[in-house]
Amino acid sequence: MVKICCIGAGYVGGPTMAVIAFKCPEIEVVVVDIAAPRINAWNSDHLPIYEPGLDDVVKQCRGKNLFFSTDVEKHVAEADIVFVSVNTPTKTQGLGAGKAADLTYWESAARMIADVSKSDKIVVEKSTVPVKTAEAIERILTHNRKGINFNILSNPEFLAEGTAIADLFNPDRVLIGGRETPEGQKAIKALKDVYAHWVPDDRILCTNLWSAELSKLAANAFLAQRISSVNAMSALCEATGADVSQVSHSIGTDSRIGPKFLNASVGFGGSCFQKDILNLVYICECNGLPEVANYWKQVIKVNDYQKTRFVNRVVSSMFNTVSGKKIAILGFAFKKDTGDTRETPAIDVCKGLLGDKAKLSIYDPQVTAEQILRDLSMKKFDWDHPAHLQPSSPTTSTNKQVSVVWDAYEAIKDAHGICILTEWDEFKKLDYQKVYENMQKPAFVFDGRNVVDANKLREIGFIVYSIGKPL
Ligand code: NAD
Ligand code: UGA
Repeated sequence: MVKICCIGAGYVGGPTMAVIAFKCPEIEVVVVDIAAPRINAWNSDHLPIYEPGLDDVVKQCRGKNLFFSTDVEKHVAEADIVFVSVNTPTKTQGLGAGKAADLTYWESAARMIADVSKSDKIVVEKSTVPVKTAEAIERILTHNRKGINFNILSNPEFLAEGTAIADLFNPDRVLIGGRETPEGQKAIKALKDVYAHWVPDDRILCTNLWSAELSKLAANAFLAQRISSVNAMSALCEATGADVSQVSHSIGTDSRIGPKFLNASVGFGGSCFQKDILNLVYICECNGLPEVANYWKQVIKVNDYQKTRFVNRVVSSMFNTVSGKKIAILGFAFKKDTGDTRETPAIDVCKGLLGDKAKLSIYDPQVTAEQILRDLSMKKFDWDHPAHLQPSSPTTSTNKQVSVVWDAYEAIKDAHGICILTEWDEFKKLDYQKVYENMQKPAFVFDGRNVVDANKLREIGFIVYSIGKPL
């Protein structure tokens, strides 16, 4: 029986390993983590992450061939294949701070693997890492020479949150990079055999290590660049009377461009787009390619511009001040169907409005009050560093200005304006006549996700702003 151990029971490690266990009943999969509360949650009825379809998959395999444990060393020692899916955040201090990837967690995992191993292992980079990381990891793994062979593979993950299970069941491709030596090729074959249980052969791409590592950063950079491109167009649409949905549809029908991932928004969020582009920028700079670095930097700048533009629109529309005005924030997660708030544009928008002394009433169907208050009191980049993940006490002014409620109508009651920041389906279906009656007048709606029918709302009496649409 092949034994797999995955270090890191997060958004990637948990769902990915659950699907491997589900599709490969003869393989034993153990997911390990140093965070005991996370492992306890994986072993309970309330999984630590919200992901459609995940509960079913976990329930079917947990206790049979899928296990969650804090006994990291034991399970690593017993495994044939060790996936490393730990967080690789942006460095906050020292060389490359604010750009380079912080590989502290990866390095400590690698050192532990080297220390506890008593048999040959395939070590798989599942985390997103800078290109050439495998070389450093190889050196760390072999520091404790005991005649054990480690073969390192790069197998980056392409799932998106909210659709993780569907993405894992039916991936566009699985990418495996390895050394071009006979041992490297043998390791690639062993990992390919795992995925071959459900992924067609032509969708398993095998490359060298550096291509696989760079492809992951490149894929995220291209995806984020598409959003910044359409968001840049949205500003021009507002200035000219064009409608960004019509422009997206028109360009998306060109088969070379394609229709997906062209929705204008208040800005992209999520744990990876910004971090991975910053990482790419840093690698370009280190390789003496400032023009390439600047090109990709612009994707982030446009994203920041889009969030600032949204805040400015809210404040300027509401007679140049939101001081003391109640604003309902509908949606805090970085996209629908997830409770994840990492780098959500809602943080920047809320902070911008709080800076202008607004009173915020926030509602998201999947995000807790504790999480929201923590996010609003945390410094940039600190969220992904476990030492900082302890709840820091929110500042008094934030506390006074922010309330978190468990119902959209409650958030909206007596508000001067509504900001829709996540595209949850329920925001499309609200009774906007009732909403209007319960708000201060004039009643404003700022739709950061283009989910409402602006014309219908205008008929009710709202003043509506939609991203990239005529006012
Ligand atoms: P996460 O923060 O949800 O999970 C990482 C886990 O690793 C945490 O639970 C942490 O406690 C654990 N960990 C850290 N150091 C450890 C150690 N030494 N030993 C044991 N456990 C340790 O992160 P994530 O969202 O799952 O992302 C993991 C990696 O995958 C990142 O590199 C990310 O860029 C990449 N990625 C993420 C996504 C996504 O949708 N979130 C998609 C593709 C790739
Ligand atoms: C993204 C990629 O899509 C995954 O392939 C990748 O594996 C993952 O990053 C990662 O490496 O972490 P994710 O961040 O989970 O996945 O979600 P996306 O669907 O890509 O959305 C990212 C952000 O872009 C969200 O805030 C979303 O609302 C926004 N977005 C997306 C838009 O504003 N417009 C769009 O058309 C699409």
